[in-house]
Amino acid sequence: MKKNLVSLAVLGALMAGGATAALAAPDWSKVPKKDVHVFHPGVAPIEWVQGKGEHSGASGLKKGESCAGCHIEDGKLSLDVKRLQSKELEPKTAPKVGTYTVGVQAAYDASNLYVRLSFKAPAGGGDKSDKENEVKASLMFPNDKVAMGEQVGCWATCHQDARTMPGADDKKTKYVKGGAYDLLQWRSSGKSFDGSVTDKRAMEGGKAAAKAEGAKAGDTYTVTFTRSLAGNATLVAGKPVTFGIAIHADHAGGRFHHVSFNQTIGLGADGDVKAVKQ
Ligand code: HEC
Repeated sequence: MKKNLVSLAVLGALMAGGATAALAAPDWSKVPKKDVHVFHPGVAPIEWVQGKGEHSGASGLKKGESCAGCHIEDGKLSLDVKRLQSKELEPKTAPKVGTYTVGVQAAYDASNLYVRLSFKAPAGGGDKSDKENEVKASLMFPNDKVAMGEQVGCWATCHQDARTMPGADDKKTKYVKGGAYDLLQWRSSGKSFDGSVTDKRAMEGGKAAAKAEGAKAGDTYTVTFTRSLAGNATLVAGKPVTFGIAIHADHAGGRFHHVSFNQTIGLGADGDVKAVKQ
């Protein structure tokens, strides 16, 4: 009996130790930070981007060039952000700040990828339809079945007939024609979501066992996501994985976010963001 109690205690200690190790946050002071540009995309869904008449990048895209390949030069955003705030591409009210940067850090271990975002969410939003949340931060990862997923990042889910687009049905969420995305979201009201985008968006029931924690200190938000290496997108050490960021600042809803182009996280490999092994 006594022996059993002792072994139970040992087992308990081991389990507690194991659980702590699994949840241990990376030591972020040892992880390099990369600044990723996010910008208000206006009304420039995948149909616009692929439409030759409107976007001169359309033919390059068809030949295999990526959004970031043309629009990020030497780490600088090469994009007419004023045009995205003008009536041509933003028929409603554009946010006053067209673009800013998000600091991105990443780390991984045998089971999880950890991504930490730090940013100053700008005031001066054009749409304040989310009364509950001042800020929402999201990550999306396309799987290898998403056509052009590596080239376009989140854009394959962004359609002209989705909710909050001009004239669109308010029930129609973002979607992808074939393939699937993992969708991770943190809301400043305190919730986090493990979702997906397939033929519709689902905020729950995702495959990445995702969770997120965040806080605001001074004027800076820090949000840390944890996701499984398994999911719709399968993450493999030694390889880069494509992802995109979206931040809804100043109570923005729907398409009134600031988003990144396609970016990669290299898990112990080259990438726009290099994930450090724990
Ligand atoms: C082959 C190069 C190339 C690729 C690939 C490309 N673009 Fe462009 N893009 C351009 C050029 C050049 C312009 C500016 C002139 C124009 O609108 O045609 C532009 C303009 C834009 C604009 C309007 C703002 C501006 O600067 O005029 C947006 C938004 C945009 N691109 C988004 C994207 C997205 C999203 C992708 C990927 C899905 C993408 N582009 C891929 C070259 C490219």
